[in-house]
Amino acid sequence: MPKAYVFTRYGGPEVEALVEVERPVPGAGQVLVAVRAAGVNPVDWKLRTGYRRPGESGERDFPAYFGNEVAGVVEEVGEGVEGFAPGDEVFGRPVVGGYSEFALLSLDLLAHKPAGLSFTDAATLPVAAVTAYDGIRRLDLPAGATVLITGVGGGVGVAAVQIARAEGLRVVGVSSDAKKAFVESLGAEHVPSGPGWTERVPGAVDGVYDLVGGEVLAEAATLLTDRTKLITAGAPPGVVEKLGGSRVARVRTSERLTAVADLVVNGALDPQVTRTFPLERAGDALRAVEDGHARGKIVIEVAV
Ligand SMILES: NC(=O)c1ccc[n+]([C@@H]2O[C@H](COP(=O)([O-])OP(=O)(O)OC[C@H]3O[C@@H](n4cnc5c(N)ncnc54)[C@H](OP(=O)(O)O)[C@@H]3O)[C@@H](O)[C@H]2O)c1
Repeated sequence: MPKAYVFTRYGGPEVEALVEVERPVPGAGQVLVAVRAAGVNPVDWKLRTGYRRPGESGERDFPAYFGNEVAGVVEEVGEGVEGFAPGDEVFGRPVVGGYSEFALLSLDLLAHKPAGLSFTDAATLPVAAVTAYDGIRRLDLPAGATVLITGVGGGVGVAAVQIARAEGLRVVGVSSDAKKAFVESLGAEHVPSGPGWTERVPGAVDGVYDLVGGEVLAEAATLLTDRTKLITAGAPPGVVEKLGGSRVARVRTSERLTAVADLVVNGALDPQVTRTFPLERAGDALRAVEDGHARGKIVIEVAV
């Protein structure tokens, strides 16, 4: 039977397990994908804790799959599926599966993987890179303007810097000192995080993309005169709205997946996968993100 990394109830790492599961069967409008790579995101462990719950009821069945972004090869298509066939290389957001050998994806969040894009890089796009893209687009700053990005050295931040640079923006990136050279290599001016960081920001800032939340978000807000140019992916809507800003509006469409994949293919975006783990070590991959200081993206690779 195929393997999957799951959580058996809400809790800490102790509720995680690598188990055998039934191979999922694609319903109407769905495709079954043999997963080659799965991106790891903070939301994965937040869902495990029960802090974030799916749907309106917040109820879910256990065991629950980890993972919200995958790339792989179509195995089987469900009723009414057109444009995808067994053998196609694809990526998207799974409705079932994630850190698993098989996943079900539905047509509305599924795209063909361009030949010039690896499975590993493609698996970073549906959550992390598209969130970066949505945020930079939403800020809608003119070329030459300055965007400040907090948490810039993490999974969303590394993509946000490059997308902003490709749009002609000056980028000021806030991260720990350990990531200074890494952040600069992506094209940002580095500002060390930690107490008093706002005083170290060089020059005026026209927009803020916050990827940390909490106190860092509140401090970042003070840098702006126009608070409509404050957005966050790292804090709840109520918190950022009190500061005059907004939570990033996610555009969850196949077209957006393709637009971001094109950026990788044309060389404007490198998702910066810095560590990969086999499915058997999915727990270590998740710990690397859960410690809050991952460098770029962490990806689980599933052996063929
Ligand atoms: N709304 C959405 O659809 C959506 C989608 C994706 C992500 N998100 C959220 O966006 C946030 C960022 O995601 P991500 O994938 O980029 O996470 P990540 O890879 O864990 O990166 C977060 C970065 O935040 C920095 N950081 C952590 N604690 C900090 C602190 N106290 N002060 C300053 N910096 C701190 C870390 O940098 P240093 O190591 O340099 O400190 C880390 O690189 C998360 O909250 C995630 O849940 C939301």
